[in-house]
Amino acid sequence: VEISVSSEGGNATSGHQYGFLHEDINNSGDGGLYAELVRNRAFQVSETFPPTLEAWYPVNGAQLSLKNLSTPLSEALPTSMNVAAGNSTRYSNSTTKVGFFNDGYWGMDVKVQTYSGSFWVLGEYDGSFTASLQSNITGEVFGSVKVESQSQPDEWIEHTFELTPFKDAPSSNNTFVITFDSVGVSSGSLDFNVISLFPPTYKGRKNGMRIDIAEALEELHPTLFRIPGGNMLEGLANTSWWDWKNSIGPLKDRPGFSGVWEYQQTNGLGLMEYLQFAEDLGMELVVGVYDGLSLNGDVTPQDELQPFIDDALNEIEFISGSADSTWGSVRAELGHPEPFPLKYVEVGNEDWLAGAPESWTTFKAYRFPMFLEAINEAYPDIQVISSGSYYDGYDMPEPGAGDYHVYAEPDTLVSEFNKFDNITTLHLIGEMAAVHPNGGIGWDGLLMPFPWWGGAVGEAVSLIGYERNTDRIIGAAYAPIIRNMNRWQWSITMIQFAADPALTTRSTSWYVWELMAAHIMTDTLPATSDFDPLFYVAGKSDKTGGHIFKAAVYNSTDGADVPVKLAFEGVGPGTAAELTVLTGPENPYSVNDPFTGVNVVETTKSTVTSNEQGVFEFDLPNLSVAVLDTSSA
Ligand code: AHR
Repeated sequence: VEISVSSEGGNATSGHQYGFLHEDINNSGDGGLYAELVRNRAFQVSETFPPTLEAWYPVNGAQLSLKNLSTPLSEALPTSMNVAAGNSTRYSNSTTKVGFFNDGYWGMDVKVQTYSGSFWVLGEYDGSFTASLQSNITGEVFGSVKVESQSQPDEWIEHTFELTPFKDAPSSNNTFVITFDSVGVSSGSLDFNVISLFPPTYKGRKNGMRIDIAEALEELHPTLFRIPGGNMLEGLANTSWWDWKNSIGPLKDRPGFSGVWEYQQTNGLGLMEYLQFAEDLGMELVVGVYDGLSLNGDVTPQDELQPFIDDALNEIEFISGSADSTWGSVRAELGHPEPFPLKYVEVGNEDWLAGAPESWTTFKAYRFPMFLEAINEAYPDIQVISSGSYYDGYDMPEPGAGDYHVYAEPDTLVSEFNKFDNITTLHLIGEMAAVHPNGGIGWDGLLMPFPWWGGAVGEAVSLIGYERNTDRIIGAAYAPIIRNMNRWQWSITMIQFAADPALTTRSTSWYVWELMAAHIMTDTLPATSDFDPLFYVAGKSDKTGGHIFKAAVYNSTDGADVPVKLAFEGVGPGTAAELTVLTGPENPYSVNDPFTGVNVVETTKSTVTSNEQGVFEFDLPNLSVAVLDTSSA
């Protein structure tokens, strides 16, 4: 294939072409990116999930029970755990120490590092608590600390401590234990709530992110961050959408959320934590605001919609308003006086699922235009995005953008390479991934168990198609992004993990997205040549001064290598470029399985120098993804 790239005539890119959606699915928030080690730390209650003692166990015959006391810790957290010395202990000589332990999100990683803990107690106790990290198998103590009681009979008191184990645990099958001496408890029992333990977090943020997962995300070079969902934003019914106001402030004032993915959420990973993470990774935000439609189809009538619009405006002010605005001042009190930059706001999530295409007339006819008008009146510079696309049959009102989601087989992703070539409306690719094997079964079959190499190459072809149209594509977000292998609802995710950081696994897709995102073009450049089986985009970066070529080969004839002759106008003979080529095993269904640690993606880097005619010559194998960049050589 001979490709000549012009020196001008392309389009400026958005600069944030690659990113991801985060919502709490697959325990990707609680028990995932959010570093809290204690599961069910606050016995939270919601419409769908009654409070439970899940993950809590007695020590030395203590009796654990849930109580809704007349003096709750807070309005948000009405239920707490009562701990009483059991009979067996009271009358035995062995010990008067009682307590409880938590086995975490299916284990806890214990290392010689400083953990920050806290718990609230109600009840009179003269003595000290012992907090420790122990093996769940042998009971071996890896570290413990004494916490002097300050507890009071009628008042909840927070106790904080630091705990540094003296040795690494051999596995992640560990527990967090709190004990106290029942002899010192005058009221016979103590009540506990918000029992929390954090390891060191990413960039040392309080209430922050788990380091290994955050780093696996950071190393993807993401520039786009769509939050807070996904289905999570919508909630199961219009009584329980993900209300951002419940997710800010002290942990004791966060009621938790009736998660849409089969588990109760803590609200610990809240709006501020998301914003801070976007700032830490330098990601452009796409913030979803609830638009009155929930997953069960509950839809808010037109004459009742205004409060939701007001709420969205408040949320935007919280994020991006000055520190002396009403909601901006709340953000400032929470430690971030500087407004967060906010360019994109999306209205709802996948509204078209609620009965498309009629939904556009019955549901959308008033909702999106009302949000669009109100947001743009207050914030003319914000690009408002509808949660449906041109392809969902919606005639997008100006100046709204659309959101296209594609979960498909790789053949479909490849067939959509040209999809956005002639569209005039601005679109976000708010969710995408190869999820089904080729063969046309689609949603009638299961999702694949893990991202696989052939699927990742299909994603590369679509990503290249989006980048060719980057003047009208805001960027693409992979979804869902991460999965806890102990409890999940959706198998295809970019990264898999468990309690043990050694199991954190970058999938085949991770390598493709990382390579694409590591070479950001500031402008695309027009090129001559047909596509298929070589799909490509060419451009340059004004930041690095480099010329960039991104390509994928999908289903070449007889699986043969594709010879490429590439010339950039203005790039002369003898110019060196770095060529990075990703290839996979012969079986395109090969995966990076977290339980084996095997990486099936091979990365080959070489230096290619343009010949006397200024042409870079190289071969690309079938099912490969490649980037050539003159600034990296
Ligand atoms: O990414 C998983 C789910 O797929 C999202 O929550 C939803 O928006 C889509 O249907």
